[in-house]
Amino acid sequence: MERTTVLAICGSLRESSLHRALLTAVERRTPGLLLVGAELIRDLPLLDPDRDTPARLPSAVREFRLLAESARGAIISSPEYVHSASGVTKNALDWLAASTGLSGKPVLLMSASPGQTGGIRGLAALVPTLLALDAVLVDPITVSHASARILPDGEVVDAGLDLRLDIALEQLSQAIGRRLVPAHLG
Ligand SMILES: Cc1cc2nc3c(=O)[nH]c(=O)nc-3n(C[C@H](O)[C@H](O)[C@H](O)COP(=O)(O)O)c2cc1C
Repeated sequence: MERTTVLAICGSLRESSLHRALLTAVERRTPGLLLVGAELIRDLPLLDPDRDTPARLPSAVREFRLLAESARGAIISSPEYVHSASGVTKNALDWLAASTGLSGKPVLLMSASPGQTGGIRGLAALVPTLLALDAVLVDPITVSHASARILPDGEVVDAGLDLRLDIALEQLSQAIGRRLVPAHLG
């Protein structure tokens, strides 16, 4: 199966992050998907428009933009912090403002939290930014009581979450126009 490149953004830098676990779970069940860029997030400096010139652009930003531009879509797995978006994610998206990296491309949003809300406010806060970047949003996934549903290594231990991931990835496949999951899962 030919793999399709999709940009990954993880909005948590925590070592045993549930959001990284969600990306790992996606990778495991989606042999047709090549997630790129997730490791770059730590190297992106805080947005500084003065550095957004060919001579001064940080190399990590240049690489991140190139990856976004070559990707067919994006998966953003990002926590809710203080009832809003992760600054890590917002900073990464702000660096994409001067590129066409997400323009017209499907984006799957995912969030998880140990509590009841599943981080929905963190995702909701990202929506205006993503629409401004001309992204096409597919139905998001929010995971409440997440530590009981997914392990830090990406193992999904909840049948409902399993099904929701399959449905979301099928939607993403259709929006991208490429099969990412084997037919028997789709
Ligand atoms: C500074 C901070 C603020 C947080 N604010 C919220 C919040 O507003 N709502 C919520 O549901 N969880 C909140 N949390 C809990 C996160 O949802 C939880 O730590 C989650 O596991 C973070 O994702 P991670 O496991 O990928 O690091 C907050 C956590 C931190 C560290």
